[in-house]
Amino acid sequence: RARLTVGALAQLKATGMPITMVTAYDFPSARVAEDADVDVVLVGDSAAMTVLGHDSTLPVGMTEMLVLAAAVRRGLRTPLLVADLPFGSYERSDEHAIGNAQRFVKEAGADAVKLERGGTSADRARAIVAAGVPVMGHVGLTPQTAGQLGGFRAQGRTAAGATRIAEEALALQESGCFALVLEAIPAAVTEQLMPYLRIPVIGIGAGPATDGQVLVFHDLLGMSAGTPARFVKRYADLHEQMVRAVGTYAEEVRTGKYPGPEHTYGIAPEELTAFAE
Ligand code: KIV
Ligand code: NA
Repeated sequence: RARLTVGALAQLKATGMPITMVTAYDFPSARVAEDADVDVVLVGDSAAMTVLGHDSTLPVGMTEMLVLAAAVRRGLRTPLLVADLPFGSYERSDEHAIGNAQRFVKEAGADAVKLERGGTSADRARAIVAAGVPVMGHVGLTPQTAGQLGGFRAQGRTAAGATRIAEEALALQESGCFALVLEAIPAAVTEQLMPYLRIPVIGIGAGPATDGQVLVFHDLLGMSAGTPARFVKRYADLHEQMVRAVGTYAEEVRTGKYPGPEHTYGIAPEELTAFAE
């Protein structure tokens, strides 16, 4: 399969084929996404939590995100590679936002960037698109402003809340975003919104009516700490499997079972004799 483009995503929406998206943060997770044949890989700023151990997405910056995105690029061939503009990298001005979006393309090989919320973010999206970088929008539960939203909780559960999400989604679409993420909103609100959204819509905790779904790599594989959100489905329990494997290794070192002869290098007897003398 050839490298997916922004246009190919619109094609998937047009044909009704669900779009698959997962996050990745390094070379091995990118290879998993590649070999599993997903359509879109997101280097999410969720990296702050999943791989850097912070309790929000706020502390991660461009420096870290560029390192992670470049590693993901090296592990990917076919999926579209989207990188999250981290908190503080796009809000200040169009120029600042364009500069950081272009760094993801030039320094890490990203195909597109993602930013959160409507309002001034929609203006930033328009500027970045005009500067040549495709932009994905993200509304609903927007982790970068979770503090203002009352924490990591579902959004749009009141008429006013749902209206705000609709306005932000439409503003991002009008700004030229090629796709939109809807996070943690009632399925019925998503259903009402879908007829107004011409661009591909990827949901996470937004019900089944979207054009596709995204999950965080560590959540779906059972590698994340703490209680997962309601929308997470765990398809594996890799943390437990890895603990068991590393624990068995440690046990075998302690009991002398590892390394065995098959893990050990030999030397010709005469060489050893000469060496011993
Ligand atoms: O950072 C992230 O993982 C995301 C997805 C949940 C959409 O933004
Ligand atoms: Na994100």
